[in-house]
Amino acid sequence: MEQTITARYPSNIALVKYWGKHGRQLPCNASLSMTLSRAYTEVTLQLTEKKSKDTELDYYFEGQRNEAFQERVLQYVSRQEAFSELLQHHALRIDSYNSFPHSAGIASSASAFAAIAAVLLRACSPVPDTSFEQEAGSLARLGSGSACRSFYGPYALWGDLDGVAQSSDRYAIPVEAIHPHFRSMHDAILIVEDKPKTVSSSVGHALMNHHPYAEARFRDANRHCLEMITILKDGDFTSFISITEREALSLHAMMMTSVDYYMLIKPETVHIINQIFQFRKDTGLPLCFTLDAGPNVHLLYPEYIKEDVQAFLEHHLRSSLKSVIYDQAGTGGSISLNDRHGAI
Ligand code: DP6
Repeated sequence: MEQTITARYPSNIALVKYWGKHGRQLPCNASLSMTLSRAYTEVTLQLTEKKSKDTELDYYFEGQRNEAFQERVLQYVSRQEAFSELLQHHALRIDSYNSFPHSAGIASSASAFAAIAAVLLRACSPVPDTSFEQEAGSLARLGSGSACRSFYGPYALWGDLDGVAQSSDRYAIPVEAIHPHFRSMHDAILIVEDKPKTVSSSVGHALMNHHPYAEARFRDANRHCLEMITILKDGDFTSFISITEREALSLHAMMMTSVDYYMLIKPETVHIINQIFQFRKDTGLPLCFTLDAGPNVHLLYPEYIKEDVQAFLEHHLRSSLKSVIYDQAGTGGSISLNDRHGAI
């Protein structure tokens, strides 16, 4: 019998960054992210009867065969013990679509691996609903670390932290107590460059292994996660801005001070950051930025200053930008099962 399972999982943007890993994709420090809503990957898994003894897995990205990612997905799926029975008995076809342009600099591996792990786990023998996210998150992490944070929203914490119950290096947990202002956070992604990045995140993580400032960085990030949990509960924008921006700059400082140093920010990135500082000085409004491993700037702001930010963006930033993607904090993913009798 043919069965299809569809999942839609969002990307996420880290406020406290995961940078450095060890063992089986275990993080060197805890990280905390905001889950997005409009930037998501939708994955459909189709299971049919197998025709040969070999592994049968086809991967299509936006309707096209994608050899490079197929190889990454095939390696990922065949390495997980949890999926071995599935591969033994079925031919798999995975179709993946992103809601955002490929070149936008949004972490597509986070949403893609969250969705891929979710459909594959759902296809395996029944997992109780209570532990589904945790198990799927743990499997998604093995595909891409940040993917495990896409299972919860609006904020998720990944990494074992002293004093935070249930926190783990293997999977993320939701940050439960969130002030209303932080529930409606916006993220306007300012695209200053839409080419693929020159140094991959994997290389960047590896450079933390012998980084002279690694221990201080890991300690800082863990402390920032603990502080951020309280900040999100209390609605404290001043501290939110200070930690979020310091984290973004620390991430890039780590790249610039690695033994094999490199720089991903561009002149436009610096210009935008300076404009944000000036805007805050002029207005006192809680607009701040974060950066991913690339030159694009994520503008973070609460719903109630939306119009002010829009005007600022049009007047002061538009000329430095290729495009803008407007997103917002979201609540995580969804999954649905269909067999040939329809949805169940
Ligand atoms: C800078 O999750 O992409 O976005 O585990 O090697 O797939 P892998 O890395 P990845 O790293 C994300 C790094 C970051 C910060 C973050 O999302 O926390």
